[in-house]
Amino acid sequence: MPSQSSSFPTPPSVRPADGRLGVLCVGLGAVSTTLIAGVELIRRGMAEPVGSLTQLGTVRLGRRDEGRTPLIKDLVPLADLDDVVFGAWDVYPDDAYVSAVNAGVLDVQRHLEPIADALRAIRPMRAAFDPTYVTRLEGTHTKGPIGRRAMLDALRDDIRAFREEHGCDRLVMIWCGSTEIFIDLGPAHSDLDAFEAAIDADDAAISPSMLYAYAALLEGVPFANGAPNLTVDAPALRELASRTGVPICGKDFKTGQTMVKTVLAPMFKTRMLGMEGWYSTNILGNRDGEVLDDPDSFKSKEHSKLGVLDTILQPDLYPSLYGDLHHVVRINYYPPRGDNKEGWDNIDFFGWLGYPMQLKVNFLCRDSILAAPLALDLVLLLDLAQRAGMGGIQEWLSFYFKSPQAAPGLYPEHDLFIQHTKLKNTLRWLAGEDQITHLGVEYYADDYLPEG
Ligand SMILES: NC(=O)c1ccc[n+]([C@@H]2O[C@H](COP(=O)([O-])OP(=O)(O)OC[C@H]3O[C@@H](n4cnc5c(N)ncnc54)[C@H](O)[C@@H]3O)[C@@H](O)[C@H]2O)c1
Repeated sequence: MPSQSSSFPTPPSVRPADGRLGVLCVGLGAVSTTLIAGVELIRRGMAEPVGSLTQLGTVRLGRRDEGRTPLIKDLVPLADLDDVVFGAWDVYPDDAYVSAVNAGVLDVQRHLEPIADALRAIRPMRAAFDPTYVTRLEGTHTKGPIGRRAMLDALRDDIRAFREEHGCDRLVMIWCGSTEIFIDLGPAHSDLDAFEAAIDADDAAISPSMLYAYAALLEGVPFANGAPNLTVDAPALRELASRTGVPICGKDFKTGQTMVKTVLAPMFKTRMLGMEGWYSTNILGNRDGEVLDDPDSFKSKEHSKLGVLDTILQPDLYPSLYGDLHHVVRINYYPPRGDNKEGWDNIDFFGWLGYPMQLKVNFLCRDSILAAPLALDLVLLLDLAQRAGMGGIQEWLSFYFKSPQAAPGLYPEHDLFIQHTKLKNTLRWLAGEDQITHLGVEYYADDYLPEG
């Protein structure tokens, strides 16, 4: 096996992915049902896992002339899709079949009817819910206003019961629930004592998503946050995850407009082209769009979408190019489009001698079709991280997020291709393979003049 560079920690040994992996989805809406239905179709050989790096992606190993490019799933031990079993919570009692029909993402005859029995068998558990956190929902299938301590205990009971009932060897939890309203982190989130006291006091500063995440961590279950709400960003939860060796990652699936932005912005930056403004707007008609129509929920999304450009363009380093940038993001709820989001971007940039130019992007995407493979990869890679003993923030999974978590004091990496390299290098490291630096001089050694 090729040697690892001495500057990296020794790669951990990874436990095999034996037995069943339970995937607990918080929220059984458009993304979750598209994920579940997709996995069900794929394992029956009725569909291809398009969009999933873990299922289709390869990693180059060694030199470019060695021709070694195994599939990711052959390089590292990932759970087999046949070993995955899904569970969920939701504020509505609809099973996964009914919810998928309502979400309107997948064709009922082609993609839901053939797997209807499997979908109908997935009935959501009662949600831990506080309507002040998602004002546009009036769900009845909740644990009721029983207080945060009782909600936490009930969630822990749900996790244990699911593990037992489905014979799971390992579990992963993923937040695919609605976007909660924007909150600032405060004293209640600062450490575990304060967090515990706030739960006892039924303090409104503790959001339902934090209760799910806390329940997961206490049960040793890795947690991914697909929405922009601050959840495992709370220092109390982040530190608990590091201390107990449970992997966490977030936040906000990077699926549509932000994915495009984190590809285009590095292009302008790499060529030292300046920018005056970037205006992004969207129309979206699904339940997520309805929730985001509430200004407080939109504020969570806006925060997560806005951070991207500053980090990529570094206006502090390049004030003449990016020091006066106007970045605007809008989402408008427009029911006729359902889950088929349309996004427009207008970029006002300038080149040599300051001459202005424009780039326009019109992206007609399908929100949950883009999100489902990300959710699949995240649960499989979090499970891998746990079997490798990698606790706390999983920065190598930044690839999947609009607002990636990074260690305190570190700026997050937003450039999609740097994130991709980071992810693949982590897989190489886990597999005991050399890192790839793309230096390339090794191929031209004979062309260089001898030293001196
Ligand atoms: N689809 C995408 O491309 C995309 C991209 C980035 C982020 N997201 C985020 O992913 C999340 C899910 O998106 P979606 O399109 O599936 O939304 P959705 O509205 O279809 O589904 C969310 C579900 O969560 C449920 N829910 C809300 N609060 C809950 C709670 N406390 N406990 C349990 N269930 C709860 C709702 O009842 C709903 O069924 C949203 O927060 C969205 O912003 C989606």
